[in-house]
Amino acid sequence: MANVTIIGTQWGDEGKGKVVDLYAQDADVIARFQGGNNAGHTIVIKGEQSIFHLIPSGILHDNKICIIGNGVVVNPKVLLQEIDGLNQRGVLPPNTKLYVSEKAHVIMPYHWRLDIARESHGLGKKIGTTGRGIGPTYEDKIARVGIRMCDLLDEQVFREKLAKNVEEKNFYLTKLFQEEPLDSEAIYREYRIYADRLRPYVADTSMIMNEAIKKGKKILFEGAQGSHLDIDHGTYPFVTSSNTVSGNAGCGTGVGPSLVGAVIGICKAYTTRVGGGPFPTELSDAIGDKLREVGHEYGATTGRKRRCGWLDIVLVRQSIRLSGITGIALTKLDVLTGIEKLKICVGYRTPQGEFTESVPSNPRLLAQCEPIYEELEGWKDDITKTRNIGELPSNTRRYIERLEELAGVKSVLVSVGAGREETIVLKNPFIG
Ligand code: GDP
Ligand code: IMO
Ligand code: MG
Repeated sequence: MANVTIIGTQWGDEGKGKVVDLYAQDADVIARFQGGNNAGHTIVIKGEQSIFHLIPSGILHDNKICIIGNGVVVNPKVLLQEIDGLNQRGVLPPNTKLYVSEKAHVIMPYHWRLDIARESHGLGKKIGTTGRGIGPTYEDKIARVGIRMCDLLDEQVFREKLAKNVEEKNFYLTKLFQEEPLDSEAIYREYRIYADRLRPYVADTSMIMNEAIKKGKKILFEGAQGSHLDIDHGTYPFVTSSNTVSGNAGCGTGVGPSLVGAVIGICKAYTTRVGGGPFPTELSDAIGDKLREVGHEYGATTGRKRRCGWLDIVLVRQSIRLSGITGIALTKLDVLTGIEKLKICVGYRTPQGEFTESVPSNPRLLAQCEPIYEELEGWKDDITKTRNIGELPSNTRRYIERLEELAGVKSVLVSVGAGREETIVLKNPFIG
């Protein structure tokens, strides 16, 4: 298979960054296709941690093309901070190129002001967003009033679009939320500086990707968030504002759907969620606390505590169906070490007492579902040094095998630590 798409199978933070960095070794082009700086993708190389919010997680490899696709929403300040950060640390490889789609929508100050105002004024349901303006930016895109990267570069278009948008958004900010208005001129001046600095990176990235494909180059699509945060298929309204499933990889980068290739679902050995919304296997006990502490389950973007719970195979199975997942990358298995009895949720009991293997679309019903567990024996031995599946404790292997049986998909990789090398590779998805 020439190309590979990485998708989160849960509610995000499954370890996509680590796997993308690993697979980037075999890829020529690494492309983000949705989301924005609500994402936080962590990579650990020789003990040094890098967190990427916008730049694709393949950027630390040399001779790559990294693309921020048209489906991504871009905060120019954050993007420049990431570029500057890499340069200051001297880790930006000399021959790797970064491009941003000229069609990607720009996150403006009124977007995050509205995002935060909505969440804090209690007018609607609190979603627990990252406060980065993601939802309002996608709203403007759909409403056809958004500012794209190509608009940002055009002084006249930018000034006109900005003035109209600020007028409208100031109405909401002042009249609905009783907040201070924004100053269009100040935003204009600030964003002109960003425009000038970002100009060399802005390109027709669909063309670049298609040219690369014609030359037989390998593409790695980097999903952000997770399947259950998908705007259509997730636990709506407690979701993000983009399609996170693999079907969006082509649309969000400007290539055809036949190029998505092998779809690898990143699955954490347990479940976490940041923000509000139903979470049937959530643990509010000592085991939940242990998972959070051992797994360092604190948001890579907002630092918020991640809610923790047992592995929910009902959710994972739905993700497999939604994205056509062909292989599982199982992450953070080491975090389960030392827990005597492990549980996997294999179905839900509905409030009517019925057994179901599907995720109810109504969040009220999902919140009332009771998880039905299968119990497995845990293991005590440290597995972080293991690089060969056969050397794992038998109970660890049993956990992986049972997950595969329940999911109906084989693992391609098992991650036993945050480091690049702390990985048991079972299959290279770029090959066959
Ligand atoms: P992403 O958003 O899916 O890229 O995931 P995050 O970076 O937000 O969160 C995953 C966290 O787990 C990061 O701190 C990673 O460094 C870390 N991590 C990834 N894989 C493993 C693993 O196998 N074991 C442990 N202990 N940590 C891991
Ligand atoms: P990565 O790519 C985990 C969650 C937020 C909130 C909901 C909506 O690192 O896995 P938004 O700001 O997108 O409007 O917030 O989605 N969320 C994430 N949770 N990982 C992420 O990204 C997330 N991106 C958004 O916490 O519940
Ligand atoms: Mg994350």
